[in-house]
Amino acid sequence: MSAPILIEKPSRQPGVLCIRFNRPEKKNAITAAMYRAMVDALQAAENEQEIRAVVFLGSENCFSAGNDIGDFLAAAAGGKLGQDILDFLHALVDCKKPLVSGVDGLAIGIGTTLHLHCDLTIASSRSRFQTPFVDLALVPEAASSLIAPRVMGNQRAFALLALGEAFSAEEAKDAAIVWKVVEPDEVEREALDVAMRLASKPPEALAIARQLLRGNAGEIHQRIDDEAMHFSARLTSTEARAAFEAFMRKSRR
Ligand code: COA
Repeated sequence: MSAPILIEKPSRQPGVLCIRFNRPEKKNAITAAMYRAMVDALQAAENEQEIRAVVFLGSENCFSAGNDIGDFLAAAAGGKLGQDILDFLHALVDCKKPLVSGVDGLAIGIGTTLHLHCDLTIASSRSRFQTPFVDLALVPEAASSLIAPRVMGNQRAFALLALGEAFSAEEAKDAAIVWKVVEPDEVEREALDVAMRLASKPPEALAIARQLLRGNAGEIHQRIDDEAMHFSARLTSTEARAAFEAFMRKSRR
């Protein structure tokens, strides 16, 4: 069985590191081990000078169905959000290399909020962005409660993060969480090629430009931790446990 996270250095796009979700049988739901593999990959990207850009990709018609709900149930038993998730979110904020994402199909939960930390996101026309946090009796994560209202305004952020409204690719582009919408078979090439364009730029100037554009990392780190405190408390709630168990029952059918 191949690894659920693939780390690739595409030969046609020198300077690019690709982190690919590869658990299609579970809609690329992300487990603790997968977060850890991504933390390690981001760390490697930081340390290796020749890596100049990082790209997140999923599989055909599925970027990711978000956090593994079985892991949420386990975390609920432990009473705390997993450290691997938190490490991944902070590593995203700390990453000095440009981050690009390519989405085809489902992008749920962190499969959507991840893109708030990316500099450029390419989505296929059939993509669907959705964050059913409140429906699972949870709260927004990944500093989305801070970044999304800034990017798309309060009402759209509320529709996405609290109402759980699904956004089409075009709606996500209007809401400025997607840069370009392309056909499904063009997503990977577009994402890798734009990453290669970034990789070929003067790295120091690009790093400074990026830092200026991204603003205050401290408040983003702080919001990740504030949200995590509420998230951890919600995980152990009766209503959240009921929502996870309902999903897991359906899953085993
Ligand atoms: N965690 C764990 N397993 C998941 C999962 C998740 N987030 N999302 C999907 N899976 C599993 C399903 O349980 C199923 O497993 P099974 O084959 O062993 O039963 C498999 O992936 C395929 O999913 P399925 O629900 O049959 O596919 P679908 O196309 O009908 O629906 C989704 C896809 C994404 C709409 C649906 O799976 C879903 O709602 N997943 C949960 C999304 C979510 O709430 N994520 C957390 C956000 S905070």
